Amino acid sequence: MTITRQDELDGLKEIGRVVANTMQAMAQAMEPGMTTAELDEIGAAILEREGAVSAPQFTYDFPGATCISVNEEIAHGIPGTRVIAAGDLVNIDVSASKDGYFADTGATFRVPPVRPALDRLCRDGWRAMQIGIAQVRNGRPLAGIGAAIGKFAQARNYTLIRNLASHGTGRALHEYPAEIATWPNRRDRRRIDRGLVLTVEPFLSTGGLWATDGTDGWTLYSEPRAPVVQYEHTVVATDRGAIVVTLPG
Ligand code: CO
Ligand code: CO
Repeated sequence: MTITRQDELDGLKEIGRVVANTMQAMAQAMEPGMTTAELDEIGAAILEREGAVSAPQFTYDFPGATCISVNEEIAHGIPGTRVIAAGDLVNIDVSASKDGYFADTGATFRVPPVRPALDRLCRDGWRAMQIGIAQVRNGRPLAGIGAAIGKFAQARNYTLIRNLASHGTGRALHEYPAEIATWPNRRDRRRIDRGLVLTVEPFLSTGGLWATDGTDGWTLYSEPRAPVVQYEHTVVATDRGAIVVTLPG
């Protein structure tokens, strides 16, 4: 959506706060021995208490309130019987709607003890997202996001998953502009308009290039197999840069 009024920004910030709080609470509750279904129940309870509806459930009939992806799973993991173990990388992606507004956030969390190389990957994954967000401004090219993230990744010998793009959001989970690359893509001529609501969610890896389907119809895996992290905020473009709406509070 494109925001033109204060009440629209307020509505978006409210669901942004809810999804951010939900994700943080799930991350804090996470511990070895817990199943991903138990972790999802914590998120589902918070969304319900806040009067929010899970966006993947509502939009795509996803079998869970949140997406939880462990280690070799990189996105859209279905909460279930998988037991979280020490040393795991766990991606929690929470998107939901309230009063007609949608927001989407995600992050990869470490279950201690974690190898230093994976710690570095997580830190740099978060930085890659921030570098992308810094390119969001009224009038700038959408492709500037992927150009900046690509430069950062290449300089540090990381790879980017090239078929999991960022997207417009706000009035639906996924809307215009579709397929915002978080990797270099010179063919995209679209510009960022004032008030545009979009996600920035690079998937940074130490070797992964593509997301491929598994057998359950949802879970995505890295090809070639390698650790992958994802950090995601929903932002609004203004004349002075991006407003991040998926902040806890
Ligand atoms: Co997401
Ligand atoms: Co998203």
